[in-house]
Amino acid sequence: MSQASNIESVLVENRVFPPDARAQQGARISGMAAYDALCAEAAKDPDAFWARLARENLSWTRPFTRTLDESNAPFYQWFGDGELNASANCLDKHMGTPVEHKTAIVFEADDGSVTTISYRELLTRVSQFANALKAEGIQKGDRVIVYMPMTIEGVIAMQACARIGATHSVVFGGFSAKALQERIIDAGAVAVITANYQLRGGKELPLKAIVDDGIAMGGCESIKSVLVYERTLSDWKRVEGRDKTFTEALNASEGQDECVPEPVGAEHPLFILYTSGSTGKPKGVQHATGGYLLWAKLTMDWTFDLRPDDVFWCTADIGWITGHTYVAYGPLAAGATQVIFEGIPTFPHAGRFWQMIEKHKVSIFYTAPTAIRSLIKAAESDEKVHPKNWDLSSLRILGSVGEPINPEAWMWYHRNIGHEKCPIVDTFWQTETGGHVITPLPGATPLVPGSCTLPLPGIAAAIVDETGKDLPNGAGGMLVIKRPWPSMIRTIWNDPERFKKSYFPEEMGGTIYLAGDGAVRSEDRGYFRITGRIDDVLNVSGHRLGTMEIESALVAKTDLVAEAAVVGRPDDVTGEAVCAFVVLKRGRPTSDEESMKLAAELRAWVAKEIGPIAKPKDIRFGENLPKTRSGKIMRRLLRSIAKGEAITQDTSTLENPAILEQLGKAY
Ligand code: PRX
Repeated sequence: MSQASNIESVLVENRVFPPDARAQQGARISGMAAYDALCAEAAKDPDAFWARLARENLSWTRPFTRTLDESNAPFYQWFGDGELNASANCLDKHMGTPVEHKTAIVFEADDGSVTTISYRELLTRVSQFANALKAEGIQKGDRVIVYMPMTIEGVIAMQACARIGATHSVVFGGFSAKALQERIIDAGAVAVITANYQLRGGKELPLKAIVDDGIAMGGCESIKSVLVYERTLSDWKRVEGRDKTFTEALNASEGQDECVPEPVGAEHPLFILYTSGSTGKPKGVQHATGGYLLWAKLTMDWTFDLRPDDVFWCTADIGWITGHTYVAYGPLAAGATQVIFEGIPTFPHAGRFWQMIEKHKVSIFYTAPTAIRSLIKAAESDEKVHPKNWDLSSLRILGSVGEPINPEAWMWYHRNIGHEKCPIVDTFWQTETGGHVITPLPGATPLVPGSCTLPLPGIAAAIVDETGKDLPNGAGGMLVIKRPWPSMIRTIWNDPERFKKSYFPEEMGGTIYLAGDGAVRSEDRGYFRITGRIDDVLNVSGHRLGTMEIESALVAKTDLVAEAAVVGRPDDVTGEAVCAFVVLKRGRPTSDEESMKLAAELRAWVAKEIGPIAKPKDIRFGENLPKTRSGKIMRRLLRSIAKGEAITQDTSTLENPAILEQLGKAY
C-alpha cells in the first residue's frame, strides 16, 4: 500500500457511512429501530423467536415441538423432534411458485462460456443424480466425499447427497491426495464424487488421479464407488469395478427424473467440513440439517437483504464453508439467481470479476479481502483492468468475508466497485458458526471501515477475559458467543471430547462458545473489530491453516528435515503469510543457491502433503531453533524475526544467540 493510503487508513477509522435512502427503502430490516426490535424479540423469548423463524423459513415434513434442548450442553440440539429435507427446502419448495422457472444458476466456465439452469431443471438434475447415488447403494447416514471443481455439477452432487440423507464432506479441489486420504478415513466415506479434471486459469488440473493416489495410500477400504464427472474430453485412468462416469451412473438408475426427498431429523448431520485447528489434524466440523439451513436462508434475507430480482454472486469455492452456505444452500433456499464461476479472478486478465459483474448484471457481490487487495494492485499497475472500464451500476450490495478487511481496501471497494452507493457488509463468521454471526445489515447499520459492526439478532456475542468475565468497550479480549444459536457446530466428527475442549473451555463454565479470535469493541458504538486468531491458526488469503499441520508436514520429510517451526506474518495481499523455520539434518545450507533449491523442494513437499495453499512463503534455515534453556521454542521471537522487526524481546534465556543471525535471511 502506498504511503498516502496508509495515512488515509489511520484517518478513516472514525468515518461512518450510514445507509442511504436507497439502501433503506424496502429493506427487510430497514433502520436501526427495526434491528433493535428483532434483538429485543430474540432476547425476550429466544425459543419463541427461533421457533417462529424456523416455521416461517423452512418446510418441515414433521413439525418440531421442541426448539432448543440444552440438557446435554454443549451438545445443543435444535428443533430436535422435527423432520425435513435440505434439498426439498432448496428446490421442491419453489415448485408451483414464480421461482420454479427462474434461473437458479448462471454458470460461467473458465473459458467464459455460460450455461444457465432453472430451478425446475436443477430439481430434475439433482433428483436424477440422487437416484444414481441410491443405485450405487449409498444410503441415508452414509458419508460421501465431494472433490469437485466449481461447477453446476458440484452443487448437484451436494444437493443430491442431502436429498437422500447422505452426509457430504466436500474437500477443496486444491487439497492433496494425502489430505483427501485423511478425510476419507476419518469420515469413513463410502464414495467419492469427483471430476476427471478441473479447469482453472486456462490450465487443466487433475482431480481423479489425485483421488486414485489418495485411496492408494491405504486405509480407504470403506470406499465402494468413485463417480467421475467428465469435465473435459481428456483421458483419465479408470479402476474397473469401482469407477463410473456420471453418465454411466445415471444410466444405471435409468435416469429417473423424480426422487422423493428423504425426511431426516433436524439434527441429522447435513455435512462434515474439515477445517484447521490449533493442534493436530484438521477437525471435521459437523453441522445439523435444520438449524444450519435456517441460518443459510435467514442470512440471505438479513445480511444480503435479498430481493426477487437480485443476481447474487459469492466467489467462494464449494470446498470452503462460504461456498457451502452462500453457494450450495443459502441462495437456493432463498430462491435467488446466482452466478457460479469456475475460474480465477486473474484469468485471462485481472478485470475478470468486474467484467462478469457487468455481463451478468450482478447486484450482490460477495468476495474476500485478499481478492480485493490483489485486484487493487493489478488495477493500480494496469489501467486496462481497472474496474472503471466496466459498467458496475447493477451492484446494490457488496460483501466481504474470511479475514479482516483493512480500511484502505474497504475504501477502495466502496469507491471503485460500489461507487459510494453500495453498503459493504463485512461478515464475520467461521466454519463452526455455519453462517454470519457479526455483520452489518445493509438497510440498517451505519458502517465503519474495518469493523464487522454488530451481532445478528439472537447472537449473544461478547468480549471476555480468560475467565469469561465481560470486558468493557475499548478493551481487547476473546470473542465468545454466550448463548447457543441454531447453526452452530454440533460436534467434531469422531471426537466429541475435542469439540468440548476446543470450543467450550471449562474455565468459562463449559457452555460458552469460544470463537478463537481476538476482538475489541469501539468505545462509541460498541462495534466489534476482529483483531485475528488467538490460537495457532493462520489465515492466508482467507483460508485457514494450522501452524502445527504445516510443521508436521515439514518434519514428515524425514530425509531432510530435523525440526521445523511455523508462524504467520502480515502480508499486504494475502493477509497473513506462512513462514517456516527449518533445521536440516545435513546442517545449514552453505550458499544462497543451495538454500533456494532446498526451499523450493520443501515448498513442493508441503504442497504435496497438504495442498499448494499451505506452501510457506518464507523459509529460513538455522542450525537450531531459538529455544529457552528448558527447550521451549520461542515462538514470539520467531514471529518478530518473520516480520523483520528489530528484536526487543529478552534473549538472555536463549540457548544459542548466534542462530538469530542465521535466521535473518528468508528464501
Ligand atoms: O479469524 C476469523 C476469520 O476467519 C476465521 C474463520 O475461518 P473459516 O472457518 O475458514 O471461515 C472463513 C469464512 C467464514 C475466523 O475465526 N474471519 C472470517 N471472517 C472475518 C474474519 N476475520 C475478520 N473479519 C471477518 N469478516
